[in-house]
Amino acid sequence: MASNASQPAPGPRLNAAGMPDRELPGGEPANYSDRWEDEWSAGVGKGQRWDCAAPSPSLVDLLKSGKVDAKGKRVFVPGCGRGYDLPVFRSAGASQVVGLELAPSAVREAQAHLQELGLPEADAAAIEMLSGDFFRWSSPQGPFDLGFDYTFGCAMHPSMRADWASTWAKSIKPGGTLVTLVFPINPDADPNVGPPFPISPALFRTLLEPAGFEVVSEAPVPAELSHPPRVGKEVLMVWRRK
Ligand SMILES: C[S@@+](CC[C@H](N)C(=O)[O-])C[C@H]1O[C@@H](n2cnc3c(N)ncnc32)[C@H](O)[C@@H]1O
Repeated sequence: MASNASQPAPGPRLNAAGMPDRELPGGEPANYSDRWEDEWSAGVGKGQRWDCAAPSPSLVDLLKSGKVDAKGKRVFVPGCGRGYDLPVFRSAGASQVVGLELAPSAVREAQAHLQELGLPEADAAAIEMLSGDFFRWSSPQGPFDLGFDYTFGCAMHPSMRADWASTWAKSIKPGGTLVTLVFPINPDADPNVGPPFPISPALFRTLLEPAGFEVVSEAPVPAELSHPPRVGKEVLMVWRRK
């Protein structure tokens, strides 16, 4: 019998972010978001799947540069996963940082992670990790001054993108700021395969501009400011809510 030794090892095809493709469930988008609790409850360890086990270097750099000022601001980070970026905003002077997660298991992971950091009491009190659906939840204190979207826009099924943009518009007050770290940029990837679905600055313009945002800046992320597997696939965009 002929040997298969020269054949590539069988296994799932990898998508834009090096994750295995999966069939989308039927009834999009109603069932689509069920996957997140399924994924988190099955176990997303630090450094596994989309989890980079560290804050986003380009966000740290952006806030340090002063191009976006978080001082005294209320900040919203939906789909924040384990919440690595929440303390980054607090360190930059934010008065309140709200992380929102659809998956209750992710909320528990984020709360455990924040606890492990042993933040000073005032910082811990300023960071809230909440369970909720971005499309339904709104803050009792009203829209935020500043929002951050990283590996959240790309987690939306394409049929959810217009709602994603209009929900961002409702979540940020006029004159406020949205920072989108656009990833994964992969023009060769099938746009309908994900998550993560390949996205681009041009796509985000077509979504966020009609929703009420204007671009303030757009810059490719330098290699030293990307998580290593994401080098060359990220663009940082800053938006102003009109
Ligand atoms: C690809 S993961 C990225 C997590 C995190 N941003 C990170 O970089 O580690 C997308 C996250 O969005 C969350 N999510 C998806 N839909 C959501 C929704 N409608 N509201 C809030 N969170 C949601 C998922 O539970 C998941 O943790």
